[in-house]
Amino acid sequence: MDALHRSFVVMSDTVLLDRRGAVAVLTLNRPDKLNALNAELLSALEAHLHTVIDDRSVRVIVITGSGPKAFAAGADIAELHAQDAYGGRLFAAFGQRVFNLIERSAKPVIAAVNGFALGGGCELAMSCHMRFASETARFGQPEINLGIIPGYGGTQRLPRLVGQAKAIELILSGDMVQAPEAHRIGLVNRIYPADALLAETQTFAEALAGKAPLALTACLEAVQIAGDTSLLEGLHAEANLFGRICGTADFKEGTDAFLQKRTPTFTGA
Ligand code: COA
Repeated sequence: MDALHRSFVVMSDTVLLDRRGAVAVLTLNRPDKLNALNAELLSALEAHLHTVIDDRSVRVIVITGSGPKAFAAGADIAELHAQDAYGGRLFAAFGQRVFNLIERSAKPVIAAVNGFALGGGCELAMSCHMRFASETARFGQPEINLGIIPGYGGTQRLPRLVGQAKAIELILSGDMVQAPEAHRIGLVNRIYPADALLAETQTFAEALAGKAPLALTACLEAVQIAGDTSLLEGLHAEANLFGRICGTADFKEGTDAFLQKRTPTFTGA
């Protein structure tokens, strides 16, 4: 087995991996603690992410929470409580490393937010490429009420998604927003009834899984660059990526299929 196809052995059941065709569903699984992100869960999530990102047969990743109440109610406050200044720095860096892996994934990652997405839960959802939420979902960065600040990317990703003024309001107040408001401010892409959320997310994910994988990756890369750099550098990168994708078999297949009035079959080549 080469490094690209390594498989991590995950001993923990704090994250469940369920393969549904080309879609991998990762479920945060500490429902009695509202799926709070402790070190064990974050390690399991990181290991599962490496497995599904390296697996060619997985085209789209969905992250959700178990139980009816929460996606994730934040970093585990019992573990957080024990930190000092040095430990807190490491604590934040670990969560950021896992969430950067999601954000920089070459495959689309969708958060199916089935309840509370607070603190680290909101930050996890924001590191995903899209957020689909149940009507009962609630979002917030309540760290201020614990006397700290968001540490898993909240101060950086929230303003990029909702603008600086709204982000400052949410981070300073610690207030929660309900799903319709989260949708209105651009934090959430779509809202579904709670009992339809996973099925609708799966249907959307399957549709993405049928698209050209290299083009999907290039789209993610290009949009990521838009958030990282100047317009001129971003346009330069886009032209380079465009040229690269014009050299793929899937580009030939997509344009051939259009001209021949048939459905394309993309292979990832
Ligand atoms: N870390 C550790 N445990 C947590 C947790 C967290 N972030 N969020 C919830 N839990 C635990 C509770 O301690 C409780 O455990 P217990 O039954 O052993 O006492 C269990 O999950 C259920 O939570 P509870 O508070 O009883 O549920 P609720 O419906 O009354 O309230 C919330 C739900 C989300 C409003 C409340 O749990 C909460 O405010 N959680 C913390 C949110 C937060 O500050 N996140 C940022 C952390 S940096």
